Amino acid sequence: MDFASAMRLIEEARPRHRLDIGDPDVPPPPELVEALKNIGDLHYGPPEGLPEFREAVAGIFGVEPDEVVAVAGGRHGLAALMWHFRKKRLLTPSPFYPGYFEIAGVFGIGLELVKTNDNWLPSFSERGVYIVNYPNNPTGIALPKEKVKELVDVAEFVISDEIYRDIVFGEFVSPLELSSEIAVVYSFSKVFSAPGLRIGAVIAPRDVVKEVARFNKATINVPPIHVQRAVASAIGALPRRRREISEIYGRRAELAAKTLRFPLVKPSGAFYVFPRAGPGCFEKALAAGVSVLPGDLYGGPGHIRIALVEPEDALAEAFALLNNACNR
Ligand SMILES: Cc1ncc(COP(=O)(O)O)c(C=O)c1O
Repeated sequence: MDFASAMRLIEEARPRHRLDIGDPDVPPPPELVEALKNIGDLHYGPPEGLPEFREAVAGIFGVEPDEVVAVAGGRHGLAALMWHFRKKRLLTPSPFYPGYFEIAGVFGIGLELVKTNDNWLPSFSERGVYIVNYPNNPTGIALPKEKVKELVDVAEFVISDEIYRDIVFGEFVSPLELSSEIAVVYSFSKVFSAPGLRIGAVIAPRDVVKEVARFNKATINVPPIHVQRAVASAIGALPRRRREISEIYGRRAELAAKTLRFPLVKPSGAFYVFPRAGPGCFEKALAAGVSVLPGDLYGGPGHIRIALVEPEDALAEAFALLNNACNR
């Protein structure tokens, strides 16, 4: 089943519990909401982003502002980087975020899959440009440091999709800590519960930053100016926000691991679980009032992806319905 068909079935069924797409339910931080009310000027700006935005993001990552470029959300940054590396051998572990294949499809480029073991850990042995995503959508796992080392040792370059880096309840090591041949894709969609703002950043070596800015210029020209300004002024809320949402989603992940009677690898970040489920579980769950997404969309047939985007009491009810619907 493709994504559009799954969404059509979900929309038609109007389920009581929507645990399908990863649209965060925790309200955005008040600092951001306040900052967005102050529109300011709406002129064009530089394609690499406003100086104040680049400085704010550089501060989070401990890099220089010219190693940061603003993008219109993580997906836009991913597209820019995949375009830049289009002539290289691109690889990504499976299960994967389907957006990578949507981008590769539009650009007409190949993307090879790297197998993972029962704990969703890949073996990195082939040379190439890797696209990795930890904490991971759909599995919620993060790589132990030895694996990150294995990755950077073998990779020509790493595109590290870290849009869930602020939601961690286990160990998380960014490849950026171990190598300089890395471009981090960062986004405010999940950490600030604001995917509709379309704002993110790429943190990369200066030559790659220039190429991403060139991609900006060719596509949207300037990432949303008023949003860059608002995010820069609300950046002080980030450490507190990180703690708050890691605690909230961490409790939900605990509840899932405790309540769901499906075999699953316990997540150490993000807000998803990816349990093994019998055939037809997506349809049966939907009929019982719970929408999830079929694992085949993520390269994990025989699994379902559950987004933990409801409060714990609602999730407890949804998990009971799921156990029942899929005969667990
Ligand atoms: C792994 C991963 N990467 C990138 C994105 C894109 O996020 P955005 O474009 O909203 O920043 C998502 C969104 O769900 C995601 O799960």
